[in-house]
Amino acid sequence: MKANCWIRPNQVEIQEVPEPKIMNARDAIVRISSTAICGSDLHLFGGYIPAMRKGDILGHEFMGEVVELGDEVKNLKVGDRVVVPFPIACGACNACEHELYSLCENSNPNVGLAEKLLGYPTAGVFGYSHLTGGFAGGQAQYARVPFADIGPMKIENDDLSDDKVLFLSDILPTGYMAAEMCEIKPGHVVAVWGAGPVGQFAAASAFLLGAERVIVIDRFPYRLRIVAENTGAETINYEQITNVREALKQLTGGRGPDSCIDAVGLEAHHHSLPVYAYDKAKQMSRTESDRPYALRQAILACRSGGIVSVVGVYGGFIDKFPMGAVMNRALTIKAGQCHVHKYMRPLLERIEKGELDPSFIITHRMSLNETPQGYDLFKQKQDECLKVVLSAN
Ligand SMILES: NC(=O)c1ccc[n+]([C@@H]2O[C@H](COP(=O)([O-])OP(=O)(O)OC[C@H]3O[C@@H](n4cnc5c(N)ncnc54)[C@H](O)[C@@H]3O)[C@@H](O)[C@H]2O)c1
Ligand SMILES: [Zn+2]
Ligand SMILES: [Zn+2]
Repeated sequence: MKANCWIRPNQVEIQEVPEPKIMNARDAIVRISSTAICGSDLHLFGGYIPAMRKGDILGHEFMGEVVELGDEVKNLKVGDRVVVPFPIACGACNACEHELYSLCENSNPNVGLAEKLLGYPTAGVFGYSHLTGGFAGGQAQYARVPFADIGPMKIENDDLSDDKVLFLSDILPTGYMAAEMCEIKPGHVVAVWGAGPVGQFAAASAFLLGAERVIVIDRFPYRLRIVAENTGAETINYEQITNVREALKQLTGGRGPDSCIDAVGLEAHHHSLPVYAYDKAKQMSRTESDRPYALRQAILACRSGGIVSVVGVYGGFIDKFPMGAVMNRALTIKAGQCHVHKYMRPLLERIEKGELDPSFIITHRMSLNETPQGYDLFKQKQDECLKVVLSAN
């Protein structure tokens, strides 16, 4: 079969690889109909996440048809149309019992490396480095899905196109969880750093959860336009102003947003040369793994006693972390890889009721063969690219 493989930083390639096989009684094999490129894939593409190996199959946002099942998967049938959540979760461990699926204690076989870097291991994830298990990903024609009795969600309604349900695999639940972590109350103002797909869904979800105002910060006018038109958020183009915190203060009566969402992560851009050069140099010399400008800004801009919700991905260690602001101003930081399993069904219900149509973010459609071009377009934000969907078969 064809699959998109990681070769080296900034190079992926479509290769012919063996088709996956059932290895475990709780496995399924899914023939992939649609898959997508995520901002998290860009971190792997850029070489920022450790433990990638040449030939690793990328991709963790995918859906398709069940073509083979292990003996113990009783809730699915061959022929079912399913969306697959990106974390791999057993459904039975302590983390899974608490609905913390991205922290499953049984699905990541490579705990040693993760323990060194993170303290404790996290769940297995499709196509997301050997740190999360080295599982083959879904930018391919087929994928093996472990714990298939727990993860894949059947889509019964054939009227719902792939475009409407594909993002239940990752970015829609992630945006929703980002907003949920903000504990939004009536009258609240939520600020979102990043108008990528995750930021777009975080903004939409913040309104669904009752925010009075949502303010999205980015530098790409087309991304800010799309979020304003589709969610009703206000926008700040940080390249057109001198100080994001001042701008937010002015928009919030001098107090700051009640909660701040980081939907940017470790490759944040900054237009002030000295800070950017500092972090970039440290990142290149491997004395700091991540560039956390958006996170620093979100912490400093948040109102006292507010919540900073971090779904942008960080890999390791950051520098100049404003701990004084967190401690003295009683801020709460919440974070996580999304516990997708928890959110898929309620969000599918919202899509079915017409409360949400996530397809508004799709700007590019390509075939699996064109995946390498898709990575370049999405990374460089060329041709007003916001989300690339790949048809896999
Ligand atoms: N926690 C999870 O489960 C989860 C799931 C999916 C994605 N993610 C992460 O979410 C982040 C966003 O993903 P995406 O798909 O939207 O990616 P993306 O690359 O399309 O979007 C990132 C956006 O951040 C903007 N940005 C960069 N620096 C900024 C700054 N200083 N201030 C404000 N905006 C800035 C960029 O211009 C871009 O529009 C990534 O880190 C990704 O890894 C996390
Ligand atoms: Zn993702
Ligand atoms: Zn588990």
